[in-house]
Amino acid sequence: MKILLIGASGTVGSAVATELAQRHEVIHIGRNSGELQVDISDPTSIRRLFEQTGRFDALVSAVGSVTFKALGEMTSDDFTLGLQNKLMGQVNLLLIGREFANDGASFTLTSGILNRDPIRTGASAAMVNGALDAFVKAAAIELPRGLRVNAVSPTVLEEAMGSYAPYFRGYKPVPAAEVALAYAKSVEGLQTGQVFIVG
Ligand SMILES: NC(=O)c1ccc[n+]([C@@H]2O[C@H](COP(=O)([O-])OP(=O)(O)OC[C@H]3O[C@@H](n4cnc5c(N)ncnc54)[C@H](OP(=O)(O)O)[C@@H]3O)[C@@H](O)[C@H]2O)c1
Repeated sequence: MKILLIGASGTVGSAVATELAQRHEVIHIGRNSGELQVDISDPTSIRRLFEQTGRFDALVSAVGSVTFKALGEMTSDDFTLGLQNKLMGQVNLLLIGREFANDGASFTLTSGILNRDPIRTGASAAMVNGALDAFVKAAAIELPRGLRVNAVSPTVLEEAMGSYAPYFRGYKPVPAAEVALAYAKSVEGLQTGQVFIVG
């Protein structure tokens, strides 16, 4: 399969690249790094990316920024990053990418644990993750041509605990390689409309 991997250099994305590259052609895409670049918060940039990649069999999005801030200090503006970047950035990868997707292609988006098991400062992350999980469930039943869409919702990764540990006391981190298996299941299996929870 020809697989577009957005966020390929990241903590999640690099493990997904290692897993999928064993069996597929993986195109590494980042904001600044990788073979091709995109800014997922800009629909024009997304369209330019697909014009460069051409048709594909799977898209994996392992990206998404949100604002982490105590709710007491959050204003409406503090939610904009999560909505424009992690939420609509990934939704737009599907809305624009479907034009370039081969029949039967899959989209795999990334949400995360925080809507299921929240932490302090995590209100925006929780809101966006919940929206992504709901989006894939609903979008899947309307996609034509055998197109599929799933989300992977990991807990915190072992490899991220260096900086994240103070925010995730009591959480059991999972190795990135284990998280990568959920992406393989989404890409190489047949399921659609699923949220694959890891950890
Ligand atoms: N790390 C965890 O423990 C964890 C747990 C659960 C869920 N998640 C979720 O997994 C996703 C990835 O997290 P991560 O920790 O792997 O992130 P990361 O290590 O910071 O990597 C981010 C990746 O995304 C790319 N990127 C950043 N902004 C972008 C943009 N505007 N457009 C396109 N690409 C962009 C970066 O490219 P450059 O290298 O070129 O900048 C990099 O490849 C996020 O949605 C996060 O919430 C992470």
